[in-house]
Amino acid sequence: MIEKIKVVLIGNESEFLEEQRAVIANLGDIEPLVICSETIINVIKESVQNESYIVVINLTDQGLEELQFLESILNKKAMIIIVGDQSNIDLLSQALRSGVKDFIDVKRYEDKLGGVIGNIKRNMLQSGQVGRVSAMINVKGGSGASFIASNVAYALAKEWALKVVLVDFDLQFGSISFNFDKTPKYALMEALNIMDDLDSLTLEAYMSKCNENLNLLLPSPVDVVLPGEVNLPNVQRLIELLRLNYSEILIDLPRLIDPVSNLILEQADEIILIVQQTLIHFRMARRLIQILNKDLDIGLDKIVIVINRYDSSNSLRIEDLKQLVNHDQVFTVANDFKKVVDSSNMGVPLYESSPRLKTSKDIKILAKSLAKIEFETPKKSIFNLFDWF
Ligand SMILES: Nc1ncnc2c1ncn2[C@@H]1O[C@H](COP(=O)(O)OP(=O)(O)OP(=O)(O)O)[C@@H](O)[C@H]1O
Ligand SMILES: [Mg+2]
Repeated sequence: MIEKIKVVLIGNESEFLEEQRAVIANLGDIEPLVICSETIINVIKESVQNESYIVVINLTDQGLEELQFLESILNKKAMIIIVGDQSNIDLLSQALRSGVKDFIDVKRYEDKLGGVIGNIKRNMLQSGQVGRVSAMINVKGGSGASFIASNVAYALAKEWALKVVLVDFDLQFGSISFNFDKTPKYALMEALNIMDDLDSLTLEAYMSKCNENLNLLLPSPVDVVLPGEVNLPNVQRLIELLRLNYSEILIDLPRLIDPVSNLILEQADEIILIVQQTLIHFRMARRLIQILNKDLDIGLDKIVIVINRYDSSNSLRIEDLKQLVNHDQVFTVANDFKKVVDSSNMGVPLYESSPRLKTSKDIKILAKSLAKIEFETPKKSIFNLFDWF
């Protein structure tokens, strides 16, 4: 099931809590949970210490005692928002001592609560507590960007049980579907056209499911998308929604600098340039890095280069590329024509059919570095942090 940001609403007036629930539910992607109790002190501790993310405490007549109790609780993990009488200076100063994130005046909660929680949601998106976006782009057609995107996605889901989505943004000639032998029931463009109506749950209908941890979001195999047909704010909204639902979001881009790819490249935490081991590829890499860095203002630290189909007997070496492009975040993925063709013909990712191959091992090293995985043991998805109740 898709996890949402959970907001716990605590108070002693159920009608009031239900009103707040409605305000918060309107923000989308948030699951409000109401706890109504005569003496709220009994429920505060468990909520703020639990892995709860956002706890809204509606103070009762015993507000000062409730805040003092809050101060005494050690190991508070939740973000705490107080709703109470803001004109009461004692309450305000005690709230500050109790380590709350915000204090909303009870008379103005309807205007304020949505904004405060919406900001926290946005901060979560920016603070890295949500899924990471990696964009793959080749520097020259056929370098292997889609192959690497498919296998990195598969490896992340398989080896570390991360929740992964692979989005094929090559809306005209996308080929990810072939790598997994999948035909989408509903296409990426259809989701983009109705983003305003989608939430985490309904977006799932657009996914082609590969296994428990890996989903694909694919373009239509029949309808062609023309330049200018994609609504940019909806692309942004899609990325935000995916960040909330997946640990790793891999986006396979066509080799094209247009408003859609610009937006995705700007949003990405990492951009992976796929090159092959020829001087032309290396020069194209230099040109693309210049475009990304100078024209799109993308930091060099976000850029990673992969030399695909790497052959150690080739006279052009990794050092040559590093020198030519003046960039040293470089990985290699070995060439294996026969095995790659076989797996491609079967519609199975190489990493599934031949995990012990040098090519697959190289992909694992790349995947591990991209997802910043430090340990060999399966990493729990960050979204499991939301399994509190
Ligand atoms: N490491 C590899 N060893 C052998 N064959 C490979 C390797 N990587 C990719 N290929 C093959 O190279 C071909 C091109 O790969 P792919 O479609 O992934 O490239 P691309 O960069 O996405 O191309 P496009 O410009 O069409 O988007 C495919 O047939 C793929 O199976
Ligand atoms: Mg491709």
